[in-house]
Amino acid sequence: MPETRDRLIIALDVDSASQAQQIVQAVGESFSTFKVGKQLFTAEGPQIVRDLVSSGKKVFLDLKFHDIPNTVAAAVRQASALRVDMLTVHASGGSKMLNAAAGAAGNNVLVLAVTVLTSLADEDLSEIGVAGNVQAQVLRLARLARASGIRGLVASAHEARELRHELGDDFAIVTPGVRPAGAAKGDQARVVTPADALRAGASHIVVGRPISEAPDPAQAAREILRELEGVFQVR
Ligand code: C5P
Repeated sequence: MPETRDRLIIALDVDSASQAQQIVQAVGESFSTFKVGKQLFTAEGPQIVRDLVSSGKKVFLDLKFHDIPNTVAAAVRQASALRVDMLTVHASGGSKMLNAAAGAAGNNVLVLAVTVLTSLADEDLSEIGVAGNVQAQVLRLARLARASGIRGLVASAHEARELRHELGDDFAIVTPGVRPAGAAKGDQARVVTPADALRAGASHIVVGRPISEAPDPAQAAREILRELEGVFQVR
C-alpha cells in the first residue's frame, strides 16, 4: 500500500530543466514523484530524468510509446536504465507491443497503458475506423493490456470506477485532469477533485498547473495531500 503522498504525481509541464527544478524546489522535500512528459523531455532529453533520479526523486516518464514491439521494448529498456519508476505506452499498439513492453520493464518499472486519449470523442473514434464508443474502447483496451502483462493504466476519473471494478485491486490506475476542491469553488462546470478520483478507484493522481502555477506550490500540494488523506480516514 503506497503512502498517501506517493499517490500524488506532480507534472513538470515546462520548457526547461531550470523551470522544472524550480517547481521541484518549490514543492519541497515532502513530495517525491514527478511526471516528465513530451514537452520537457523533448527540450532537455534524458539528462533531466538523470538529474531528478540522482536527487532522490521518482520519475514517471510520460512519453506514450507506440511503435513496433522491438522498438518499444528497446525504448523501455532505456527508460529502465534511466531508473524511471513508471512510463506510458499506448494500448492501441496491440498485444505484441504491450507484451514486449511489459517484458522489457521487468519488475523495475511500472508500465501504464493509455487507452483512449480524453481528447477523443465517439465521432473521433469513428473517423479512425474504431466502431465502438469511447467507453467500450477504453474497456476493450484495458482488458487487452491486462491480458498482455500490463499492471497499470492511465484513465480519467470518469472511467476509473468501471475500470477498478473490472481490473480488481491489484492494478494501478493513474488519473490526470483533476482539480483541487479549493480551485473548483465558484466554477459552474463539473470538476473532478483529487478526492473524487481516489473514491472512484484511482490509485494515483497527476496534478500539473494547480500546483506548478500556484502562488505557493508547496501549500497547494499539501492541501491536495490533506484532501487525499481525508478519503482514507472515512474508509
Ligand atoms: O491540467 P494539469 O496541468 O493538471 O495536467 C497535468 C498533466 O495531466 C498534464 O501532463 C496533462 O498532459 C495530463 N492530462 C492528461 N489527460 C487529461 C488531462 C491532463 O493526460 N485529460
